[in-house]
Amino acid sequence: MKLRSENLLQTELAKIKHLCALDWELITAHTVYYTHGYHPYSAKYIPQIPNRLISTFSDKNDLILDNFVGSGTTLVESKVMGRNAIGVDINPLACLISKVKTTVIKKPAMREISHFLVSLHSDIVHLRRNTTLSSLGEKKPIDSPVIEKLHPNIPKWYHENVIYELVVIKTKINAVRNTEVRDFLLVAFSSLLRSVSNTTSGFGNLMINKNAPPKNRIFEKFSLAVANMLQSVADFSTVATNSKVTIFKQDSRKLEFINDESIDFICTHPPYMAAVPYAEYQKLSLWWLGYSQYDLEKSLIGGRRSRPDTPQRFFRDMEMSLLEMKRVLRKKKYCCITIGNPIYGGKTWKLNEFIKQNAIQIGFTHLKEISRGKYHSTMGKMKEEFVLIFRNE
Ligand SMILES: C[S@@+](CC[C@H](N)C(=O)[O-])C[C@H]1O[C@@H](n2cnc3c(N)ncnc32)[C@H](O)[C@@H]1O
Repeated sequence: MKLRSENLLQTELAKIKHLCALDWELITAHTVYYTHGYHPYSAKYIPQIPNRLISTFSDKNDLILDNFVGSGTTLVESKVMGRNAIGVDINPLACLISKVKTTVIKKPAMREISHFLVSLHSDIVHLRRNTTLSSLGEKKPIDSPVIEKLHPNIPKWYHENVIYELVVIKTKINAVRNTEVRDFLLVAFSSLLRSVSNTTSGFGNLMINKNAPPKNRIFEKFSLAVANMLQSVADFSTVATNSKVTIFKQDSRKLEFINDESIDFICTHPPYMAAVPYAEYQKLSLWWLGYSQYDLEKSLIGGRRSRPDTPQRFFRDMEMSLLEMKRVLRKKKYCCITIGNPIYGGKTWKLNEFIKQNAIQIGFTHLKEISRGKYHSTMGKMKEEFVLIFRNE
């Protein structure tokens, strides 16, 4: 018995030594291969992080959990490496993107997407003709009830011609019966919404730019997004295994739909306390896709950032999540948490230290901390981030 546990410790030591010897700055790494580049998502981690951790701490056919799954980076890597995976996120947009990124689109669905684009093109030609007539004082290019059903804020963020094309595209997507095809097209649609709006460029807070240049050829931009995604999914299909990926739009603080000690490895990347207000950054997609920005903001850990109790709520919520992670993970199995230290209220919050101490208190053994980004600014505002490695006892 003693020999067995000594062997385990030796193997564990070798794994950690191997990880520590790798270059984690990954400055020149290509990060948008396969389906990883489908849709922008703030504070994604680069796929090399889960890839290395999954290959070190799990085996083929194991069940992996990412309980803050975001845009599904862990899930894509799990599927390529033949691991089954569960992704959990409270954000409906995250769940949609993760689902589409891990779905291999087969030939018949690809054909349906091509037919969709051809048919959409004729609707757009018709719309553009009506828009010209409308500028000559004829009737509006689109019935006003369709426009009235849009989220009331949308008209402030787009030029009128852009709204018309987006409405035609979205209406046609809604009519697609095949959910796989519909979700694929919705992700392509959502990926465009910021770049064709009147926002200031770049990511981060959305602000209306009153001098935004006119945007046109929205259909062509949408078609290009679809074509790029089709190319990516074709690459992905050559490496994706048949492993099972399940996504839950649920709260990480309450993982009651996952059995005790049923997970072989946890690889996750929690929110950075108030640093990335997802509901605000993603509001254009949330509005267009019919999700509630305010419901999301309330349920996100670290979501409502301007409250005096933001740090206390974050620490309490993270503790609840860690307790759930401990419950669902098998004993002697590993849990890796990637986290950065945000600047909030004028000071840097050492979330790595908090998570480490908290995890130790509830019974995890802390094995190693790998830091990245200290010398090269790879993570924007966050700069340095940490991969914390724990064993469940
Ligand atoms: C740092 S991001 C994860 C990014 C992910 N690693 C990727 O590559 O896309 C953190 C995620 O935690 C999610 N989140 C915040 N509060 C949550 C909660 N209560 N339950 C589940 N997910 C939550 C956010 O929606 C966000 O997608």
